[in-house]
Amino acid sequence: MNLHVHTAKSISGSCKVPSDKSISHRALMLGVLAQEPVIVHNLLRSQDVLSTLRCLQDLGFDIVDEGSITIRPMRKEPKQNLTLDCGNSGTTMRLMCGLLAGLGIRVDLDGDASLRRRPMKRVSDPLIQLGANIEVQDNGCAPVHIYPTQSICFSEVYLSVASAQLKSACLILGLQGKGCIVRGGANSRDHTERMMMAMGAKLTLDNRGDVQIFPSLLTGIELTVPGDFSSAAFVLCAALILPESQLTITDVNLNPTRTGLLEVLDLMGANIETTPIIDDIEPVGIIDVQSSHLNGLPIPESLIPRLIDELPLIAVLATQAHGQTQIRGAGELRFKESDRISSTVAMLRTFGAEVTELEDGMIIEGPQKLSAGLVDSQHDHRIAMAAAVAALCAQGETTIANAECISVSFPNFSNLFSGLGAVMRWSEEHECFE
Ligand code: S3P
Repeated sequence: MNLHVHTAKSISGSCKVPSDKSISHRALMLGVLAQEPVIVHNLLRSQDVLSTLRCLQDLGFDIVDEGSITIRPMRKEPKQNLTLDCGNSGTTMRLMCGLLAGLGIRVDLDGDASLRRRPMKRVSDPLIQLGANIEVQDNGCAPVHIYPTQSICFSEVYLSVASAQLKSACLILGLQGKGCIVRGGANSRDHTERMMMAMGAKLTLDNRGDVQIFPSLLTGIELTVPGDFSSAAFVLCAALILPESQLTITDVNLNPTRTGLLEVLDLMGANIETTPIIDDIEPVGIIDVQSSHLNGLPIPESLIPRLIDELPLIAVLATQAHGQTQIRGAGELRFKESDRISSTVAMLRTFGAEVTELEDGMIIEGPQKLSAGLVDSQHDHRIAMAAAVAALCAQGETTIANAECISVSFPNFSNLFSGLGAVMRWSEEHECFE
């Protein structure tokens, strides 16, 4: 499906972005492990989270959706010998590996063409070290086969990449099994640790960012999922590069393991103010932003894990900033929903931008004039949305092909932008997700 985006002069107003995707996945998966009811308000209703919800319902977990979600402890064994469809969601598949290995049941996990290309051995290896019985295909990808095992043990695992998904899968298995120490996940998002602790799990963190989980029973909890900073980032960056924009984003998650972009924007000279409102399980607040004169810069590599999902958007900003922006040390981008280094470079080149592709990033000189064109999302939601932001400052009307993937994380994307004064319209009716 095509999304048509016009040049915009500015966007203004106040908005609330969709709920956090990472927190929504975790609320469901940890919810089914709790000994008491768990109530989740504001669960994100995006395709990725619905994949997690459906997988858990297929396993027979008692999850009632009446606006808010109620998860009741299951008194019987989960179903087994079935194939769960994780759709496009890497978080669903990887976290589910830890959950299912701990449940000790026989289940297969599969997903769409993009998910079948993503590396799964990086999650099965540490889980196998913890005694799980998991097989991936010869190419290291899905379908993933999970078998019951009697050998779950305590171990120290070293992650091959600083990934929150791998760290979370190990913690979810360790929680149900004999505990574990997870090393190498420093600076990756810590939503799992925060939620587990709020639900009474015993967990310790050292100053290197290594986490130890002890076998624990989870208590019930009632939680409200805040707005997703990674979704807010699209609106925020659009406001920065469109002249005379002024925007307030409310109820947004400000977890520092997610907000590396704010640090980069500060270095670029952006006019942004954050106001913390709540600091409960997760910090939540308000972001005020105004259009700003931005300067390019080398993105500090230490920030990469804390802004990994925002890099396609940072590349768009870089075309409008003054001077050179370098993104390095971001080779992980090649293993996302698409190869996000090549898809970002291809997307920017469609707008006429000059970009140098590196093995682990890219170099962009700015400012550059962008011209509208026909852009392909490569079926990657973050590429489609980054392209929509570029389109707002490109001359003419841009068509983003295969843009329906936006529903993976940001179900009301075009409506939200339209409410702020931008012109975005879909080529066909698609009530399914707007
Ligand atoms: C996520 C972790 C990140 C991120 C993804 C969601 C999560 O992936 O890119 O969109 O919810 O744990 P990695 O853990 O592979 O860095």
